[in-house]
Amino acid sequence: MCGFALTGVVATTAPDAVEPAHMRPAPVVPAEFEKCPPGMEMRVSDPGGAGPPESGALTPEQADRYHRQLRDALVPLRGQQLEPPHTVPVVVHVISAEDGSGDVSDERIHEQIDVLNTAYSGGYAGVTAQEVGVGETAKRSAGVKAAEENAADTGFRFELAEITRTVDDDWFTGFDQHRDTIRARLRQGGAETLNIYTADLGPGLLGYSTFPQDYKDKPEQDGVVVAHDTLPGGDRDRFNLGHTGTHEIGHWLGLFHTFQNGCTPPGDYVDDTPYEREAASGCPVDRDTCPDEPGKDAVTNFMNYSDDACMTHFTEGQGRRMVEHWAAFRS
Ligand code: ARG
Ligand code: ZN
Ligand code: CA
Repeated sequence: MCGFALTGVVATTAPDAVEPAHMRPAPVVPAEFEKCPPGMEMRVSDPGGAGPPESGALTPEQADRYHRQLRDALVPLRGQQLEPPHTVPVVVHVISAEDGSGDVSDERIHEQIDVLNTAYSGGYAGVTAQEVGVGETAKRSAGVKAAEENAADTGFRFELAEITRTVDDDWFTGFDQHRDTIRARLRQGGAETLNIYTADLGPGLLGYSTFPQDYKDKPEQDGVVVAHDTLPGGDRDRFNLGHTGTHEIGHWLGLFHTFQNGCTPPGDYVDDTPYEREAASGCPVDRDTCPDEPGKDAVTNFMNYSDDACMTHFTEGQGRRMVEHWAAFRS
């Protein structure tokens, strides 16, 4: 089999004192990798258009390079159980304007952290669009329910360590021009610390992230950037439930888009997500853009481009792949 196969999952360790056993996902052992042919077609779509290279839109070659780096980094860990880390310290850097725009409240940041913890523990499975306060676009079908049955507890949890606030008009409206300076100046912690920056990214861009493999060469640039109005309760239409954060942190933990490499192996390098020709938009449940491959599109997966209210889950395979990236690059 090409790409990604788990050698085995063995849950033998005793639960620790803090979390009951049922909260803990099974430990992961490193996967066996086999070389896959690089994708023949490049089908990358990014609503942000010419976004920065970190927007998660990767060529087949770039994705293949990241994957090989992962495989190589896991060689010395083979045979070990990779315990999910459970708790990631988070530092949120709020960049805002003199007039107060973008000055996201502490409360909203706490809500964002809550959203992340629900998402990464599989807690959005079965939650209806009505319950999260939106209408027609996210109405569920039987197909969605089926997909939700694979909602994984990834093992990751997020704990707010600090909020920093910087008032600077140029940094707020021109984040992309200044981003290397901003991140180098504000970033805290090591590879295990998640730094989230909020600013105005313009009308087309919701967020972007570095990959774990990037940390070694540019530790000071490591982190996630999200538009300030994508936090829960923000003003961004269709994208204000906080799942831009959920999605970008998926990249920060090593995941590709569900539509990476389109219908061509190795796809997104995850076994239990179906192939998908191109990004979803809105909530086109029951869509099947790779009819020759098993499974309908993963429209409700956090690593797609659907509306926030449409997104419900990561799969077990994605959870394992994040744990592997953590062990390889962040622990
Ligand atoms: N376009 C961005 C990316 O590729 C974010 C997409 C987030 N989607 C969402 N429903 N919030 O990283
Ligand atoms: Zn993305
Ligand atoms: Ca897949």
